[in-house]
Amino acid sequence: MTKVNPPIAMLAELTHRCPLSCPYCSNPLELARQESEVDTATWVDVFRQAADLGVLQLHLSGGEPASRRDLTELVAGAREAGLYTNLITSGIGLTERRLRELDEAGLDHVQLSLQGTDPAMADEIGGYRGGFARKMQVAEWIGEIGFPLTLNAVLHRRNLHQLPRAIEMAGEMGARRIEVATVQFHGWALENRDALMPTREQAREATRLVAEARARLKGRLVIDYVPADYHEDLPKRCMGGWGSSGLNITPDGQVLPCHAAQSIPHLSFDRVTERPLREIWYEGAAFNAYRGTDWMQEPCKSCERKEIDFGGCRCQAMAILGDPNATDPVCVKSPHHGVLQASADAHATRDDAALVYRTMPQKTSV
Ligand code: SF4
Ligand code: FES
Repeated sequence: MTKVNPPIAMLAELTHRCPLSCPYCSNPLELARQESEVDTATWVDVFRQAADLGVLQLHLSGGEPASRRDLTELVAGAREAGLYTNLITSGIGLTERRLRELDEAGLDHVQLSLQGTDPAMADEIGGYRGGFARKMQVAEWIGEIGFPLTLNAVLHRRNLHQLPRAIEMAGEMGARRIEVATVQFHGWALENRDALMPTREQAREATRLVAEARARLKGRLVIDYVPADYHEDLPKRCMGGWGSSGLNITPDGQVLPCHAAQSIPHLSFDRVTERPLREIWYEGAAFNAYRGTDWMQEPCKSCERKEIDFGGCRCQAMAILGDPNATDPVCVKSPHHGVLQASADAHATRDDAALVYRTMPQKTSV
């Protein structure tokens, strides 16, 4: 039996609405409509339940969480529950006044996304003209108010050459941390592998640049790095291990072990409106599906790394092999590793591929 510890972090996807339409978005293709979103009181109750369960950090995400009018109330509710609250935002939709209200409500930290380091790149990737200028203004307000800031640079074939400037910008903005996140191919990003897959050379160069910047900026800027894993030989320890330390809640209240879990068709998910969070975490079928190592097949089953990476990412095994029980094909021991690498190289040569922008479903007329 796998020993189950309490979760440490919870990601609350408050809404799928977003003014940007980034093709790298990991949200599912089928986005939740505004009408189905969980209401303020239910979210606040879920925050209390999460704190009782042991959660320490709450990440408010989306979509764009600022699209929720009740964001300040939600932050106040999280603070009252005793949670450390991080707002994951593109900045669009935040005014100086709103940021000051969030500060007063107890927001602890802001994570600002960066689609590119100049207006041409950022506005093209975000699909939003003028977005870069507004983001820079928001970054200034964040600095003036004094929120601890993490810059989240999402990188792919089109903008990886901007990595050095992204690191410089983090310093200029007074960020304490930058997350250099090479795009992970889930949701909309999976639709965009041809347009976004980095080349092997780019992936290697990014790793080199990050190592060099980490040494140079030690003590001044923390650099988290998510490498281009299609080009790696060892898979990532996704979510720190399934159902081991974190959970995600969708805008309509489904509780997921990871943000892409809905792509695994045999899983069904409990809702916060139907079952207590504690019960979902410890007893929910989806959480127990890939907990620990008992579910593993070979080569993971007898591998010395099985408690290090837990077989990699279940959603990636599903997306690439159609089998969520398989070893993540990023792993060099997977029989499909060579095929994955060849497909990564093939995707990376499709320079004529158009971006598929994330779009919300149209409202059905009655
Ligand atoms: Fe990890 Fe499985 Fe590969 Fe071993 S065989 S390194 S456990 S993914
Ligand atoms: Fe679901 Fe990795 S994203 S396990």
